Amino acid sequence: MHRVHLPDGVDVPALGQGTWLIGEGRRSAREEEAALALGIDLGLSLIDTAEMYGDGRSEELIGRVIMGRRGEVFLVSKVYPHNASTAGVQAACARSLKRLGVEKIDLYLLHWRGGIPLAETVAAFGALKRAGKIGAWGVSNFDIADMTELMGVPGGDACATNQVLYHPDSRGIEYDLLPWCARQKISVMAYSPFGHSGTPLRSKAVTEVARRHGVAPAQIALAWAMRHPHVIVIPKAGDPAHVRENAAARKIMLTVEDLAMIDAAHPPPRRKQSLDLL
Ligand SMILES: NC(=O)c1ccc[n+]([C@@H]2O[C@H](COP(=O)([O-])OP(=O)(O)OC[C@H]3O[C@@H](n4cnc5c(N)ncnc54)[C@H](OP(=O)(O)O)[C@@H]3O)[C@@H](O)[C@H]2O)c1
Repeated sequence: MHRVHLPDGVDVPALGQGTWLIGEGRRSAREEEAALALGIDLGLSLIDTAEMYGDGRSEELIGRVIMGRRGEVFLVSKVYPHNASTAGVQAACARSLKRLGVEKIDLYLLHWRGGIPLAETVAAFGALKRAGKIGAWGVSNFDIADMTELMGVPGGDACATNQVLYHPDSRGIEYDLLPWCARQKISVMAYSPFGHSGTPLRSKAVTEVARRHGVAPAQIALAWAMRHPHVIVIPKAGDPAHVRENAAARKIMLTVEDLAMIDAAHPPPRRKQSLDLL
């Protein structure tokens, strides 16, 4: 299976599971837990969450699913920018660990840039790592200027990933951020690969490529994002049929013609675009 190497030598699956809006009563907790567990069974063992999601209910739901299965999963969680101070990071991480029912978060991200100096947050992440409470740390929603600033902070070059929006209708990162991260050996985690609301899946080009392969448009969107060797993709699926479809996307190899058809309808960036956020 396609895997991505993090800078500290850890290997993670290139396709994981997002969990925003789970644990919020949109489906029964039993259905949501079953979908997440099915994803783990199928190898979608990188699970992305955040203290923000459902005010901790996403982390609690994950905690129930991974009870007895801790060794099978790679857990990613995120701290709010307003909690990213020395004391705030310690406390927020302790709360997330408790909700998840684990002793260590594998990858801990700053959810987006806030007012607390990066140097303070990086030092706090370093302390968590030395204490064994996190395995690695990274950031989210950082554009190239933020990343460059981060590299100038003591210890900032230990950043393992930058989690950003990436799908066929939002590909500005291809111009600069994606190649920059590749050169620095920082993985990119693509969030909302279906544009959150599924708009890119209704594109004529994506549906035509899907028809050619005899698969679903969502699978093409995942294969398209995973064509970069250092990109990790984290779709969210509560429907078990969607989970199965997403897992099967790992087998799809897009051709040069497929990529050209997608490029014609969703052109790659020709100049700098500011980072899209959801
Ligand atoms: N760092 C950040 O700021 C940030 C921001 C946004 C998201 N994220 C992370 O990225 C994850 C994914 O993004 P997202 O939740 O915004 O949206 P997404 O993954 O782009 O889309 C989720 C939607 O797609 C549907 N879906 C899943 N598989 C499908 C398939 N095979 N065919 C058709 N529809 C399918 C889901 O429906 P069902 O649930 O009914 O299956 C759900 O409605 C989040 O859950 C979160 O972990 C991070």
